Amino acid sequence: MNEAVLNDAIANPRNLGEMADADAVGTVGNPECGDMVRMWLKFTEKDGRKVIDKASFQSFGCQTAIAVASMATEMLKGRTVEEARGMTAGDLSGPLGALPPMKIHCGQMVEGALKAALEGGEGVKAEKVEKVEKAAAVPGLQGNLAESLGEAAGPRVGKVKVVLQ
Ligand code: FES
Repeated sequence: MNEAVLNDAIANPRNLGEMADADAVGTVGNPECGDMVRMWLKFTEKDGRKVIDKASFQSFGCQTAIAVASMATEMLKGRTVEEARGMTAGDLSGPLGALPPMKIHCGQMVEGALKAALEGGEGVKAEKVEKVEKAAAVPGLQGNLAESLGEAAGPRVGKVKVVLQ
């Protein structure tokens, strides 16, 4: 992993924050570490194809997830939906390089948030964005994760579990 790139992304994350006019939003949470990543996408048409015009994210708790999401939201600009669907956590980490074993799931959460947003598509945007706005009010994103996960947010043993929301 490239430490200089990591430190820069943490100190100055790109595309951080909610996107008011998003076409799609996707969220994943991980009860093991209590972190979650939410990604917003805005689409446009280019040469008759649907491409990602811009992407933004929120993440709580984990600097690696913030760094990967920062990289990913930059790299997603101009990609077609099909291209974005094919991107793995490794692709999305880009210049960060390979993540250490303990941090692999951080990148997978970013991939999961992207895939969730792409699956949601434009058809559900109004409902999803409204839900995000409510979640952002009180008790906040992290509280919303615990609330959404219910008992699953409690102490757990075993494999890491990523929950699509
Ligand atoms: Fe869980 Fe990074 S430690 S997302």
